[in-house]
Amino acid sequence: MRLVFLGPPGAGKGTQARELAREWGVVHLATGDMLREALAAGTGLGLEAKRYMDRGALVPDEVIIDLMRERLARPDAARGFIVDGFPRTIAQAEALASLLKDSGQALDRVIYFEISEPELLRRLTGRRICRRCQTVYHLISAPPRRPDVCDKCGGELYQREDDSEATVQHRLEVYAQQTAPLLAYYSERGLLVPVAGEGSIEAVRRAIRAVVGA
Ligand code: AP5
Repeated sequence: MRLVFLGPPGAGKGTQARELAREWGVVHLATGDMLREALAAGTGLGLEAKRYMDRGALVPDEVIIDLMRERLARPDAARGFIVDGFPRTIAQAEALASLLKDSGQALDRVIYFEISEPELLRRLTGRRICRRCQTVYHLISAPPRRPDVCDKCGGELYQREDDSEATVQHRLEVYAQQTAPLLAYYSERGLLVPVAGEGSIEAVRRAIRAVVGA
């Protein structure tokens, strides 16, 4: 199973990919998470990426493509994967196709999360994340039992810097300009499968299972 989860910021890609990857025994490859981990570890990559992420801009293609080349080459990715947050430009999509081709693989499907802008804004501004175990919450739709405390590990919850209202607007513009052209790109290749992203977390998960046949 080799899937891409495509959709605007806050569409629910990470929420679904984490759970379904576990269920299907494949790896979840999220470029945003990889960059945030690099930043937390204080690496050069993390510090370079921060300059772009904080203002809601895309990290340069060559940096992200190198990151994915290295990650896809690890043995666990050979069992299958869900890629989330990549590709985000046509250049990244071309690079992914060529990386997979080099190892005799190809994408099975690109799941596109359809969702309205007001719902994206609600989801992004209400998102909270555990500093320790990275569990994702939402103040309304998936709240922790105690305010600002992770149910799973007791860690402190925080709001991502790029989830402020001003940066979210910019991320949505960047998505429209640089990532939305991928819809036509994957549709022309017969890979794009739209899924309604606005139902409950469980309803969206059922819809994805149905289109993937799993
Ligand atoms: P990244 O981390 O990839 O952010 P994103 O694509 O903007 O996506 P998000 O993580 O914001 O949203 P999501 O769709 O995963 O939603 P989630 O499941 O959390 O990228 C961050 C930055 O890194 C970029 O801006 C860029 O700078 C850089 N970057 C990363 N990849 C790059 C690349 N390939 N090229 C260049 N730069 C790159 O859900 C959101 C909230 O909604 C949560 O609170 C959740 O609990 C809630 N929720 C989820 N589903 C539902 C539901 N069905 N009903 C109600 N609430 C729900």
